[in-house]
Amino acid sequence: MPALETRLRTGPDFDQNAAAYAILIEELRGRHSHVLAGGGERLRQRHIERGKIPVRQRIDTLVDSLSPFLELSPLAAWELYRNEVPSAGIITGIGVVCGLPCMIIANDATVKGGSFFHETVKKHLRAQEIAFENKLPCLYLVDCGGAFLPEQDRVFPDRDHFGGTFFQQCRMSAAGLPQVSAVFGGCTAGGAYIPALSDEVVMVRGTGRIHLGGPPIVKAAINEIVDGETLGGAEMHTYISGVADYLAETELTALGKLRDIVAALNWPETHRTTARDTRPPLYDPSELGGIVGTDLKRPYDVREVIARVVDGSEFQEFKPNYGSTLVCGFAWIHGEPVGILANNGVLFSEAAVKGAHFIELCDQRRVPILFLQNITGFMVGSEAERGGIAKHSAKLVYAVSNTRVPRYTVIIGGSYGAGNYGMCGRGFQPRFLFSWPNARIATMSADVASAVVTDLRRSSLTRGGADETELGRIDRQTRMQFEEQSTPYYATARLWDDGIIEPAQTRDVLGLCLALAAREIELPGHRPVYRM
Ligand code: COA
Repeated sequence: MPALETRLRTGPDFDQNAAAYAILIEELRGRHSHVLAGGGERLRQRHIERGKIPVRQRIDTLVDSLSPFLELSPLAAWELYRNEVPSAGIITGIGVVCGLPCMIIANDATVKGGSFFHETVKKHLRAQEIAFENKLPCLYLVDCGGAFLPEQDRVFPDRDHFGGTFFQQCRMSAAGLPQVSAVFGGCTAGGAYIPALSDEVVMVRGTGRIHLGGPPIVKAAINEIVDGETLGGAEMHTYISGVADYLAETELTALGKLRDIVAALNWPETHRTTARDTRPPLYDPSELGGIVGTDLKRPYDVREVIARVVDGSEFQEFKPNYGSTLVCGFAWIHGEPVGILANNGVLFSEAAVKGAHFIELCDQRRVPILFLQNITGFMVGSEAERGGIAKHSAKLVYAVSNTRVPRYTVIIGGSYGAGNYGMCGRGFQPRFLFSWPNARIATMSADVASAVVTDLRRSSLTRGGADETELGRIDRQTRMQFEEQSTPYYATARLWDDGIIEPAQTRDVLGLCLALAAREIELPGHRPVYRM
């Protein structure tokens, strides 16, 4: 396969871009380290004094040493709720336990008692969706106060609310995907169903609690006065009720027991080697910041990005002379084959149909598809419309929607308008969607939006007399709104992606995601495991 050549490595432009991008990376790292502190030092200390292990440390202890852990959406709920719900109070991610990749879903009890906000539920559901699609056993590290009550209308009643997490658990169990819980803290009300619907449950003596109603609810409902340990402690549940299966004296033994359970799953996975040997790209992925820079209006050749993501920088480009604003071609990432569609300018009709054609090739050859999004949208204007841009772009949208191969999206720049759809945005349910810190996602850019909204207002005001001061205010307001709402932090806070990643990490993150899909696993499931 031919290797790409670079033209953009040095020079003042590169250095300036690299310096500007380094600031974005520093900001991202700062935000990531901010959320690592969970609910803050005071609550962390209280947690430890109770003999409990901080949630990320629990995960570190659970997974195989020196194995990667792909944390998902660590900045969920960023700047929401006065920024007091770091990571939305729940850590989710893919980790390797006894050699098996598993989805780990772990409450952070230092964040409002691990209770569920709107974004917590969304993140929990998304982790389950990823587990289902990628055939990952689910390990729940439970330490949670159920629904965050002041937000109950955004957490409890709707289709994709709390109930949906239990629905998914039942469906995954029925499909043969193991659901295993370790209970470290409270599991009250809805929270009680996380262990109750699990195939196997470990519970820690002294701190683990499972009850449909805690002591205050019991007192209010039936006037019974009972302490938490008697009502729903680990000893009661393992000796008397049978709600839990294993009593652990400490959190460490509980984590060890969880590993033993995973080791005994008799999981049908067969060890496979990658389709090809892994080779690093010829060009350093850490140069990506200097290539893309922070100014979305500055064009660059997206092949420079591909050359720093794929094995050996090798790229078999499809139709290189046609529809040149969409670069398509075959490559390998960490030894896994992948078909890439990457934007290199606005999408014209030729580019759209070329993309649809290429997706069909990938589908037939069973090659997963990677979309590298940096798109202002499809071409507008009378020439484009007369050329049938609406029907040609629809062909791309059709192909993206119906292909049978796994799809992955990384937003490496702008993600605007229907370009987001044609390039497999969130609505098209790619297996994973990550953003770079320079990404922007919105119906249109702030510049265009302010012009459109001001123009619309001008037309209606003209009838009653345009007021330039009023129009100026609308322009500023719209611009501010779009600038704020299109940042990657705004998006990731609301779970529109699976996390913001550094450009240099892209290759490794995608390698892991592609490897998950490449496993051939026959699920044994035909009925769920009912807790008897
Ligand atoms: N809704 C709203 N706030 C909640 C909450 C919930 N479900 N669960 C905990 N919190 C809040 C507490 O009010 C407290 O807030 P504050 O720091 O602003 O005062 C914070 O989370 C920590 O709670 P705290 O009780 O101090 O933590 P803990 O570690 O001692 O106990 C729980 C944790 C989960 C066992 C305990 O908070 C609890 O029983 N919560 C209520 C559970 C419940 O009845 N849920 C029903 C949901 S349907």
